Amino acid sequence: MTHKTTPHLVHIETFGCQMNESDSELVRSLLKQDGFAFTDDRERADVMLMNTCAIRENAHNKVYGHLGELHAIKKERPLVVGVLGCMAQSLKDELTKKVPLIDVLAGPDAYRQLPMLISNALQAQEQGFSKKAFALDLSEYETYDGVMPDREGGTNAWITVMRGCDNFCSFCVVPYTRGRERSRDPQSILAEAQQAAALGYKQITLLGQNVNSYRSDDWDFAKLILAVADTPGIERVRFTSPHPKDFPRPLLEAIATHPKICKHIHLPLQSGSDRILDLMGRLYTTDDYRKLVDQIRQLIPDIVLTTDIICGFCSETDEEFNQTYQLVEQVRFHSAFVFAYSERKNTIAARKYPDDISNEVKSLRVQRLVDLQREIGAALNRDYIGQRVPILVERDATRSPDQWMGKTDGNIAVIWNKGTEPLQPGMFTTRLITDATTAALFAE
Ligand code: SAH
Ligand code: SF4
Ligand code: F3S
Repeated sequence: MTHKTTPHLVHIETFGCQMNESDSELVRSLLKQDGFAFTDDRERADVMLMNTCAIRENAHNKVYGHLGELHAIKKERPLVVGVLGCMAQSLKDELTKKVPLIDVLAGPDAYRQLPMLISNALQAQEQGFSKKAFALDLSEYETYDGVMPDREGGTNAWITVMRGCDNFCSFCVVPYTRGRERSRDPQSILAEAQQAAALGYKQITLLGQNVNSYRSDDWDFAKLILAVADTPGIERVRFTSPHPKDFPRPLLEAIATHPKICKHIHLPLQSGSDRILDLMGRLYTTDDYRKLVDQIRQLIPDIVLTTDIICGFCSETDEEFNQTYQLVEQVRFHSAFVFAYSERKNTIAARKYPDDISNEVKSLRVQRLVDLQREIGAALNRDYIGQRVPILVERDATRSPDQWMGKTDGNIAVIWNKGTEPLQPGMFTTRLITDATTAALFAE
């Protein structure tokens, strides 16, 4: 590659889920290997990348907003603009037609080509013309094995263990943006876990859009997470996001028995109506879901359960929404992400079922669930008052540099005033919980 004597500076902004955070670490690694450098300062960047999300319409809107800003910058000075990730993959035509400022589009399986695409775009720009380059092939094999992520620092290391999704839930765009399910070689995952431990990371979060459907020869997710949890130096192992259909008993036993596997399961429910679950193609009934929750709570009594719910999916009646409301009341999740259904182009739902619930009704349903969940979350958090809980120190609290923020094993945030005790991020401390809100616990 031909580069200026000073390397070109790249700025990357990441939207969407943890998979995208993890992918941006791969992108940084691949570009640095090729002589690029990174900057947090947009003013100095020669290249601006956006790693985008397509899961709901508001994810798109955020990206369009940022593209507008880049447009203004690009009028003032030379700039290469690249759009990566799920929106690049799913909206190629719309993006290239509507937004002439984009030079490079690359989907989630095409990042190995990124250094070349960006170099070409920079070269073209230096010679006074613009060259657009797209890399949008999805792959059945790409797992970026051998690319060591360029991590952000802190206490947590993401490790993507599988990519893609074959579930095709009718509302979801992910199978189209990230392609077919494929799992990484376990030995390369374990090597990456050891490297993360050697760099001082205390926590590993295993990632995949369907993380518990991991399979590689005779390795399933239970075997993998147990092996990762045995990595010397790693104190906590988490995983996201699992699908309720892939919780065989050995996985629950692994979570129950291994002291380093955190007692937190994110268990996306989506709906409390069997008819809606069937239309969504979720592959379980409310009865299956309840039985799974019972089994989990029996085996792991101190488990923290969280969930995702969609309100106002095609043809959802008031009665069906009420079933969701009642199931949330009964299960008592620690927290829930509640979304209004957002139709995604080309998905099964977009092709088969009209998006016939008004925005007003969707918002009202979302608000009712959010209100209910706020009460339940606060009540469950108040149960910790008076208990001494082990906390992994993560960072300064957002509100004040005079306070620490850390997490319980169950992934609940705890905030306390810094005292004379010499704590550092990555250390453990055990503290008495004195107060609680829906969002956090407060300790002495
Ligand atoms: N693989 C994960 C989900 C990833 S997307 C899983 O199966 O659990 C995260 C959440 O976004 C989903 O659980 C769902 O609640 C929500 N979501 C996905 N597509 C959506 C859509 N079209 N409209 C509204 N919410 C959606
Ligand atoms: Fe989307 Fe369903 Fe796959 Fe999750 S399991 S990523 S909701 S298709
Ligand atoms: Fe968004 Fe893609 Fe993640 S659509 S939620 S960034 S997998």
